[in-house]
Amino acid sequence: MYLTKEEEKMLDGEYGATQAKLLRILVKMGEIFNADRLIPIASAQISGVSYRTIGDAGIHFLKSLEGAKVSVPTTLNPIAFDEAFLKELEVDEEFHRKQMEIVRAYVNMGVKPTMTCTPYYYDNIPKFGEHIAWAESSAVIYANSIIGARTNREGSVSALASAIIGKTPNYGMHLKEERGATHLIEVGFELKPEHFPLIGLYIGSVINGVPYIRLNGDLDDLKLMGAAMAASGSISMYHVEGITPEWRTALRDRVERITVTKEDIEEYEGEEIDVELIAIGCPHVSASELRKIAEFVRGKRKREDVELWIFGARSTIEKESESVRIIKEFGGKVMADTCVVVSNAGKIYKRIGTNSGKAALYLRKARFGGAEVMVRDMYTLLRSVIA
Ligand code: F3S
Repeated sequence: MYLTKEEEKMLDGEYGATQAKLLRILVKMGEIFNADRLIPIASAQISGVSYRTIGDAGIHFLKSLEGAKVSVPTTLNPIAFDEAFLKELEVDEEFHRKQMEIVRAYVNMGVKPTMTCTPYYYDNIPKFGEHIAWAESSAVIYANSIIGARTNREGSVSALASAIIGKTPNYGMHLKEERGATHLIEVGFELKPEHFPLIGLYIGSVINGVPYIRLNGDLDDLKLMGAAMAASGSISMYHVEGITPEWRTALRDRVERITVTKEDIEEYEGEEIDVELIAIGCPHVSASELRKIAEFVRGKRKREDVELWIFGARSTIEKESESVRIIKEFGGKVMADTCVVVSNAGKIYKRIGTNSGKAALYLRKARFGGAEVMVRDMYTLLRSVIA
């Protein structure tokens, strides 16, 4: 892999041990994936922020980087709670202290404490064709597919290394030739809103590549589908005919054809259950989702035996304050900085309804609480919570 004179000096420790250590990580990755060189990035996004996920080992690693600073705009994934809901999320003092220690470590490095997986709405907006190093899989697939920015699916350490060095190895999704479709997906039944996350889970579990999909949906539908696809497999980009920015040039070679049937996706849906919690906002809600929810629940009363929790970026929530007011008046809770998966929600509630395939996939796992989860579209869920 070609290194500039300056990169060689950095690797030799001329800019300090931390820079050398982080650059070594990027060079190693580049060698493994046959990158020709390192390329500058416009931004980074870091996952592995929740104390539930990274634990004391993560705190120890962050402390070892003390003094390091990010060199490009960098944002953070959700943490384990919204400080305004510590009681509801059953956060004890010790856990709170450790989580905030993690956030402080990142802030000291110059990372913006956005605590969201949807920085692309307001906080960290990439441009078409821009090279970035993002870690959150749902944000990676959104950036590549919907925006046309270029990022591999970074780990939390490699994203942080890239944020500090300001570069990433040039391979995978950074290369035009790797962004073409590998599979053509036809949907063989009439598509309804609740099918997007389920189709995503199915595609992610059966292919490893770049799917080209023929379907109609809005950006919120595609966000849910992409997040599910990235969660159930390792897909970091898809094309949707007529919608995503690179679809016209995506079908270059002969590709494998797959038809998704209704039966294929049914197993992900989950049985109809008496839910204790309705969770919306995985990935974090968009402004338009918040407005739709508010419009739907305006002037109605919530059932007392079911909680409605909505998760969003603080920036989205602040900009949609009127929608948030209406949802709160209805009895719902709108939480920032966290989500149904990285908080204790899955440990507190055992029967959950969500419109997110990704949330369902995780919450059903014993490590995240092993809840019974049904996946339905947003309006079906909202209808079920009205008294
Ligand atoms: Fe975001 Fe949490 Fe889902 S980080 S994609 S809301 S699991």
